[in-house]
Amino acid sequence: MGRLEGKRAIVTGAASGIGRASALLFAREGAAVLAVDKTRDALEETAAQIAAAGGRAVAMAADAGSEAEVQAYVARAIAEFGGLDVVYANAGISGGLVPLFEQTVEHWQEILRVNLIGPFLALKHAGRHMVNQGSGSIVCTASVAGLRANAGGNPYSASKAGIISLVQTAANSFFGSGVRVNAVCPGLIETGMTKPIFDYARGRGTQANLGQLNPLGRYGEPHEIAAMAAFLASDEASYINGQAIAVDGGLSSTHPFRRPRP
Ligand SMILES: NC(=O)c1ccc[n+]([C@@H]2O[C@H](COP(=O)([O-])OP(=O)(O)OC[C@H]3O[C@@H](n4cnc5c(N)ncnc54)[C@H](O)[C@@H]3O)[C@@H](O)[C@H]2O)c1
Repeated sequence: MGRLEGKRAIVTGAASGIGRASALLFAREGAAVLAVDKTRDALEETAAQIAAAGGRAVAMAADAGSEAEVQAYVARAIAEFGGLDVVYANAGISGGLVPLFEQTVEHWQEILRVNLIGPFLALKHAGRHMVNQGSGSIVCTASVAGLRANAGGNPYSASKAGIISLVQTAANSFFGSGVRVNAVCPGLIETGMTKPIFDYARGRGTQANLGQLNPLGRYGEPHEIAAMAAFLASDEASYINGQAIAVDGGLSSTHPFRRPRP
């Protein structure tokens, strides 16, 4: 039996990176998955990969930061699967590294809309259904950027710090309902979002430096974040609530440290 056997799940940002790896793993663990993304073709590819592996998936193009579209994806999952047990609110954008004095209100608003208001809307609309049902698990993707500086731009980092607070406050908003809310805080993971960093390092021949700031001395793979999301989504995590768990090779455990040369 898979650890998500019989669960009805939504994964946002499922066309790429951590979201695709999570949709594939959730399905492999027995969940029926509504795969949501704004990028339609790559999303269909995720659903096709799940079907090819013998799993059940439905693809739905939607903007994870639009209230009407979040309501629509929640309604679609319930209609397709007859209920909803898990939401992984994972879709996000980086916004790049724009110098602070050049950042505009519109730039901030778009990053907060997708990265923070999107997960809030998932909590609001899926949470309402789960509270009535008396069970459910909502997982959000925060980041080590939400813990402290130098892992993303100002609005990106603020949006991820906001998610960490959101899972704490929402877990309490759902007091006594049986609905759990948690976040995963990835470190540096090779995905579509970080492709420019990896391409740049490989272009300069400095790829060996990628991930050297954490005590494992390497960057992470999307499946390593998916594993935590699947665990938090599952009943194995039945007493874990309101937490933001770092999956970062130990990056957030250290002070800045220059290792002695061998
Ligand atoms: N890659 C990393 O190192 C890293 C580290 C920490 C946190 N994260 C977070 O992980 C999550 C997944 O990112 P990833 O690294 O897999 O990047 P990715 O770019 O490979 O995947 C993100 C997906 O989200 C989708 N998306 C973006 N905006 C959307 C919207 N408005 N509506 C629907 N879909 C939308 C994109 O189309 C894309 O398919 C993000 O929240 C990101 O902030 C990534």
